[in-house]
Amino acid sequence: MEKIVSFSKRRGFVFPGSEIYGGLAGTYDYGPLGLALKNNIKKDWWKTFVENREDIFGIETAILMNQKVWEASGHVSGFSDPLVECRKCKRRFRADQIENASICPECGGTLGEAKQFNMMFKTQVGASEEATAVSYLRPETAQGMFVNFKNIIDAYHPKLPFGLAQIGRAFRNEIAPRDFLFRTREFEQMEIEYFVKEGEWKKSFEDLKDEIIDWLSKIGLKSGVSELEVPEEERAHYSKRTIDFEFEYPFGRKELCGLAYRTDFDLKAHAEASKTDFSYLDEETKEKFIPHCIEPSFGVDRLVLAILTNAYTEDELGGEKRAFLRFSPAIAPIKAAVFPLLKNKPELVKKAQEVYQMLKKEIADAAFDDNGNIGKRYRRQDEIGTPFCITIDFQTLEDDTVTLRDRDSGEQRRLEINGLLAIFKDL
Ligand code: GAP
Repeated sequence: MEKIVSFSKRRGFVFPGSEIYGGLAGTYDYGPLGLALKNNIKKDWWKTFVENREDIFGIETAILMNQKVWEASGHVSGFSDPLVECRKCKRRFRADQIENASICPECGGTLGEAKQFNMMFKTQVGASEEATAVSYLRPETAQGMFVNFKNIIDAYHPKLPFGLAQIGRAFRNEIAPRDFLFRTREFEQMEIEYFVKEGEWKKSFEDLKDEIIDWLSKIGLKSGVSELEVPEEERAHYSKRTIDFEFEYPFGRKELCGLAYRTDFDLKAHAEASKTDFSYLDEETKEKFIPHCIEPSFGVDRLVLAILTNAYTEDELGGEKRAFLRFSPAIAPIKAAVFPLLKNKPELVKKAQEVYQMLKKEIADAAFDDNGNIGKRYRRQDEIGTPFCITIDFQTLEDDTVTLRDRDSGEQRRLEINGLLAIFKDL
C-alpha cells in the first residue's frame, strides 16, 4: 500500500489534500493523470449505464438540500457510527473497528461508553443563524434522485422499469478516514435509482447484478472482486437485500461498490413528509402505486484505488527491474505516446508531431515525448500505464511505417501509420 501511495504522488496521480499545511485527514487532490483516470472511469460508466440504454436517465442535483430531505430519509436520526473516546488521550475511534472495546489502541488508556456520532457535515445556508437555515452536505447522491421523482414522471412520462443516474460528490464526516482513497471524507459516487413494480424487483436485482459484474470486468477488475450477501443486521435502515462487491485491497477484502433493494422506503418517506403524490399510474392496468427501488452504488475513488492496486506491477524487462501500471487500454489516462527517435532531427520531430496530432484528434488521450533516450521514454510511459508507444524513425520518412511497442511485453512491431487509428479505435 505504501508503494502505491508514494507511486501515486510521485507520478502525479493523487496528492494528500492541503499537503503544505500538514494535510486535512480524509481529503485528497487528483493531479492530471489521476484525474484523467478518474474521468475515464466516469465516462465509461455513464456510457454503459446511461447513454447505451433506453431505460436509465441522467440527472444532476444540488449537493445542498433542504434539511427536511435528511429528516425524511432517516439520515438525521440514523446515519451514524458508534464512537468511543479515550479518557486519557481524548482520541476518538470507531467502536466497531477496534479490537478491544475498553482499551485505547493508541495510549492504552480507558475508553468511554460508545455514543452514536452522526456523519453528516452540517452547514449554515444564508446569513441567518436560525435553525431553518441548517443544511447538510449530502452523504449520498441518491436523495437528489428520489426528491425529483415526480418532476421526472411529469416531464418525461417514463414507463416502469426505469432508472435515474447521477455522478457527484458526497461527504461524510468519517470518524476514522483511512487506507488512502478507500475511506475519505469527501468522495464521488456514481449511483442509479432503478424503479420497478414491487413484484418484479428480484429480476431487476439479478439483471443489475450481472451488469455490474460485466462493467467491473470491462474496466479491468475481473480478478479480486467477490460478492458478499450482507446479513440483515448489517444492512442500511432502508434495505431489504444488499450485495456488497468486495475487492482484495492490500489491507484486506473490503467493499468496492454495492447493490441494494431499497423497497419503497425513500419514495414513501418523501411522499409522506412533503405531502407530494409520488404514485405511478400504470397505463395498462390503471393501477396507482409507489414503485420500489433497486440501487447500484459505486464509489469512484474506491474504484480508482482498486484499479491502481490491480495495475501496479513489478517485473524485469531487458534485464532491468521496473515498476509500472498495467491499466486496461479502456481506462488508461494516456492510450499512446508518440516519440521522434531523435530530438535534434527536425524532419523526425515534424513527422512525429503529425502522427501525434492525428491521434490526439481521433482518440484524445495521446502524448508527445522527445525528452531523453528512447529507453527512458519507454520507462516513463510504462510507469504511468500507457499501453502503447509509437516511435518515428528514419524508415518512417521513407515508407510511412512506425514501431508500435507494447507496454506489458516490451515487444515491438512495425506497421503503417494508416493502420494506427483502426487499432486505437478498436481499443
Ligand atoms: N446510496 C447508497 C450509499 O451511499 P454506501 O454503501 O454507504 O451506500 C456507496 O456507499 C459507495 O460509496 C460505497 O460502496 C463506496 O464505494 C463509496 N463510499 C462510501 N463511503 C465512502 C468513503 N468514506 N470514502 C470513499 N468512498 C466511500
